[in-house]
Amino acid sequence: MGRLDDRVCVITGAGRGIGSSLARTLAAQGGKIVVNDLGGAIDGSGSDQTPAQQVVDEITAAGGQAVANYADVSDYAQAEGLVQQALDTYGGLDVLINVAGILRDRMLFNMNEKEWDDVIRVHMKGTFNTSKFASIHWRSERKGHYRLINFTSVSGLYGNPGQPNYSAAKMGIVGFTLSSANALARYGATANAISPGAQTRMIDDIPPERRRAGLAAAQDDKRSPDNIAPPVVYLASEDSDWLSGRVIGARGYEIELVRNPVTEATLYSDKMWGIDEACEEMERVFKPMVEGRTSMMPRPYAHEQE
Ligand SMILES: NC(=O)c1ccc[n+]([C@@H]2O[C@H](COP(=O)([O-])OP(=O)(O)OC[C@H]3O[C@@H](n4cnc5c(N)ncnc54)[C@H](O)[C@@H]3O)[C@@H](O)[C@H]2O)c1
Repeated sequence: MGRLDDRVCVITGAGRGIGSSLARTLAAQGGKIVVNDLGGAIDGSGSDQTPAQQVVDEITAAGGQAVANYADVSDYAQAEGLVQQALDTYGGLDVLINVAGILRDRMLFNMNEKEWDDVIRVHMKGTFNTSKFASIHWRSERKGHYRLINFTSVSGLYGNPGQPNYSAAKMGIVGFTLSSANALARYGATANAISPGAQTRMIDDIPPERRRAGLAAAQDDKRSPDNIAPPVVYLASEDSDWLSGRVIGARGYEIELVRNPVTEATLYSDKMWGIDEACEEMERVFKPMVEGRTSMMPRPYAHEQE
């Protein structure tokens, strides 16, 4: 008995890195997996069917169930086809995991329009596209225990200075996840986001001096993408109905419950604030709370690159 017996799971970006690890682990837990991957380069260029097919071959050789899909999730029609393939092949869709992503790192003042658009398109539109078509199925079927699991990043949660496009997309995915959690609860679906950390080609692309020291120096199995799978298996299972609208961090041997944004302090008035009054009160109350936090980003992200 696995924790995901006969649960139909679509995993995007599952030909490499974290997604491929999830596909193998969820299949070993009894899931029926649609392994999606466009097979492009780290910057999103090109395509190759080999990565998705290889993961499918590994899963079936180990006795699991999987089929390959090569869609570009940022293409609306292809994303619809991906969801339809799960319905046609396995007769349902219980779990959608949006892992696919690309990088086009550049400082804000150097970033061109295409670098911005491509990253927003793959992460945000890709996540919307697949989720929309999955939600149509969930809303009409209403069987329950449906799962939407999206991928965010510390880059979005803290604001990596060299990734304005990626940080925006990844925090946008958090907002999208919270909206989906509120919208889909009545149909028996939960929506959560994973903030992962693992050694993949995406991390290899970051200059060594800007990598998080903890993970870079860790022993091999702490850096492994396999560390992301255990909390994802739990979120994908029927047992996690109680958990929705949250960000779960996973890196090394750590699994975190991340606090959603909360109001830290409020200034009250019984009439419209005067300009001088607001300026003085903000400085008096907020400044001591903010001072000392020169950056929201944990070191060593907290410095600029040119
Ligand atoms: N590795 C980390 O430490 C880390 C940290 C924070 C967030 N993330 C996020 O985790 C996810 C997985 O990252 P990874 O490190 O495994 O990267 P990866 O590059 O190893 O894997 C991403 C996969 O997505 C696929 N892909 C890209 N664009 C696609 C598209 N349009 N349609 C379908 N597939 C597409 C790629 O071909 C690739 O196989 C990403 O969303 C990433 O932003 C990773």
